[in-house]
Amino acid sequence: MAPTQLFRYWLCLLVLSLPLLLWFGHVIIWDDGSAAAKNRGLQGYTRISPGRMSQLLDIHCDQCAFVSSSGQMLGAGAGDEIDRIRCVIRMNNAPTGGYEKDVGSRTAVRVVSHTSVPLLVKNETYYFQQSANTTYVFWGPERNMRQDGKGPIFNLLLKMAIKYPEAKIYAVTRDKIQYCDSVFQNETGKNRMKTGAFLSTGFFTMILAMDMCDSITVYGMIDNNHCSLANRSFVPYHYYEKNRLDECRMYRVHEHTQRGGHRFITEKAIYGKWATRHKIEFKHPFWSF
Ligand SMILES: *[C@@H]1O[C@H](CO)[C@@H](O)[C@H](O)[C@H]1NC(C)=O
Ligand SMILES: *[C@@H]1O[C@H](CO)[C@@H](O)[C@H](O)[C@H]1NC(C)=O
Ligand SMILES: *[C@@H]1O[C@H](CO)[C@@H](O)[C@H](O)[C@H]1NC(C)=O
Ligand SMILES: *[C@@H]1O[C@H](CO)[C@@H](O)[C@H](O)[C@H]1NC(C)=O
Repeated sequence: MAPTQLFRYWLCLLVLSLPLLLWFGHVIIWDDGSAAAKNRGLQGYTRISPGRMSQLLDIHCDQCAFVSSSGQMLGAGAGDEIDRIRCVIRMNNAPTGGYEKDVGSRTAVRVVSHTSVPLLVKNETYYFQQSANTTYVFWGPERNMRQDGKGPIFNLLLKMAIKYPEAKIYAVTRDKIQYCDSVFQNETGKNRMKTGAFLSTGFFTMILAMDMCDSITVYGMIDNNHCSLANRSFVPYHYYEKNRLDECRMYRVHEHTQRGGHRFITEKAIYGKWATRHKIEFKHPFWSF
């Protein structure tokens, strides 16, 4: 080969390989980025999104409002106070529209039970498109949340994540759910499964709030003694559902049911213990210790 020919040959090779080099460099940088992201955030909460399943929930708040779904919120008039708190956590499909005066209007995080997923999907544009500022954390048993294609609720959430790529959809990991069971057992001395109970969404929400918040104000939660007081209040179980059993009757039914109940009263006794160790306060009603 003549020198000019050789030069052209090398130039051509360089030009052809440049995109490959750039792409390779991009992949390396991108890979570094995702590796860093992997280590950032809260263990136990992973993204549901194709290609980003290892991304952890990365939220930290100095101050959180944990707004319960209880009928205690009706007439609480706490909306303005709640709106002033940076991170507001709500549960399931608890609405704000029409209840702003009592429960506030913003939602940073919504913790949702596997059983409430169909309710959100029924109104998918509201939850996953219009409420794009809200981060969703879903919990559920392995049979519904397994990620091998055989978990119907997980599959539904993955469909939402593909349809609404901006939506921030996370799941409580299997390890974290087992950890929550061990916390319940540690606190009560009882095995959750053997006693036929399910942890409530409130329990997972309290665990998440302690993971992500420096201090927590809980709104609308009664303490574990309230329902045995002679002057107890009669409020709906949920502030947005007027025609069901009143809160205390619902709690009693759940507390004593053999299979599939939530131990709401027991859980509240546990929160009372935690409030002496973490920065947790309770309002509407106020808990004194
Ligand atoms: C969706 O939910 C929002 C907020 O709760 C509500 O205002 C709206 O009416 C719902 N839309 C449908 C179609 O149910
Ligand atoms: C979403 O959050 C941003 C930044 O905090 C805010 O400016 C915007 O108004 C919010 N949008 C909605 C729909 O709440
Ligand atoms: C178990 O309970 C004790 C006493 O309440 C507490 O100090 C400890 O942190 C708990 N451990 C776990 C894993 O929950
Ligand atoms: C019920 O009565 C007790 C005193 O016996 C009082 O301290 C408490 O505030 C009352 N609770 C409600 C909800 O009115």
